[in-house]
Amino acid sequence: MRRMPQRDDWSTTMTIGNPDYRDAGLEFSGDFLLGSATASYQIEGAVHEDGRGASIWDTFSHTPGKITNDDTGDVACDHYHRWESDLDLMAELGLEAYRFSIAWPRIQPTGRGPANEAGLAFYERLVDGLIARGIRPIATLYHWDLPQALEDEGGWANRATAEAFADYARLVGERLGDRVAVWTTLNEPWCSAYLGYGSGAHAPGLMDGAKALAAVHHLNLAHGLAVSALRDVVTNDPGYSITLNLHVVRPSGETGQEAARRVDGLANRVFLGPLLGDGYPDDVIADTAGVTDWAFVKPGDTELIAQPIDVLGVNYYSTVTVRMWDGVSERVRADGHKDMGGTPWPGSDDVEFLQQPGPYTAMGWNIDPSGLEDLLVALHAAYPELPLMVTENGAAFDDVVTEGSDGPVVQDDDRIDYLRRHFTAAHRAMARGVDLRGYQVWSLMDNFEWGYGYSKRFGIVRVDYDTLERLPKASARWYAELIRTRRIPA
Ligand code: FCB
Repeated sequence: MRRMPQRDDWSTTMTIGNPDYRDAGLEFSGDFLLGSATASYQIEGAVHEDGRGASIWDTFSHTPGKITNDDTGDVACDHYHRWESDLDLMAELGLEAYRFSIAWPRIQPTGRGPANEAGLAFYERLVDGLIARGIRPIATLYHWDLPQALEDEGGWANRATAEAFADYARLVGERLGDRVAVWTTLNEPWCSAYLGYGSGAHAPGLMDGAKALAAVHHLNLAHGLAVSALRDVVTNDPGYSITLNLHVVRPSGETGQEAARRVDGLANRVFLGPLLGDGYPDDVIADTAGVTDWAFVKPGDTELIAQPIDVLGVNYYSTVTVRMWDGVSERVRADGHKDMGGTPWPGSDDVEFLQQPGPYTAMGWNIDPSGLEDLLVALHAAYPELPLMVTENGAAFDDVVTEGSDGPVVQDDDRIDYLRRHFTAAHRAMARGVDLRGYQVWSLMDNFEWGYGYSKRFGIVRVDYDTLERLPKASARWYAELIRTRRIPA
């Protein structure tokens, strides 16, 4: 089994360039795809419109106590109605690509059966609008809004959900499979499985390690089945991909290596292994033997999962530092996710996630651009033939609106600095031979940040949640300059 190399493996080669990742003037070639990302439930609103069915996030966000301020995505950024002016804004910023997601319950309100025409038509207008503006559509089929009707039958812990997902992929592919540039099956299945079914921090909010691991497998399977279904119906020549939030794991102390192996297994190798043809890692199966017997993996599944892909999507925000808990002191779990009572680490709840050194974003996530460089270099070392794309990177900060001479301004220098340093990290990885194809900033606009509701702002465009007006922040102008000049501005 291939191991994701840890930082120690190449630490001797780590010091090139400015150690704080603030090099200026680095250039990206013309075919490096610069864009921005969003997700359906986080921006669309219009949850009852045009035949959309309920998703697990509607149910979860309407359950008191689950979301900060009990916020919901009912209105969100109202993108469902404002899509056209949002596209104009993207064009104004010069985006070359836009990574969006399709809401499964708009296409199949109960997760099965014929397509809802109004749902398909919405995404068709969106894709056509992007193409008309010269922006390449990167479509994610699943960014967490599972039809509630499928959850009622067991959700991702149920194998039938993977089969239903392939049918859904086919319906979307039949309609848009002549114009989408890149298809991404799933966004961050780690979150869907472990936060949704293990820790309880995300919809559907279950806390059951066995279900979380079953969900891991059924998500992997759903990916493979969906890629096959798309390939059957698509008529242009798109890239096929999946987006993972791989964990950059730093070991601490004597037990750090053991803890890092466990976390790397549950967070990284349990996806990379089957997706890229190596099957499930033996050590993960052994570590989780007390939680599940893995009987949900049926003969032939690993072949179904390992469909060839053209690019691997990488979402990166911060790092984790781990060691084994000594069983005596109070256990630390500063892994950056809301603690709702359950564990997102089935079979490895005795791993401690140490508080990271700062600085931090408003999420409390540590800022460490070297993590992105390390991750890209490690992936390339393990899978040299596989092109990569940063499909999310960005930061939440407590933005302040001030009155400028031409109206309100958000001078978000901390976000600019974050982006500048992470673009530099990506550039350095490329200089070290990584085949990186593009970079999608999270996010185009402030939006519903899952368990944190509207309290965390990740956008390069501000959304005023009273008026729903959009206001490009200084970071949006900075990014527009990067795209225009193809150089990282200071
Ligand atoms: C990722 C999600 C995305 C957004 C960012 C901040 O885990 O994919 O929707 O919430 O984090």
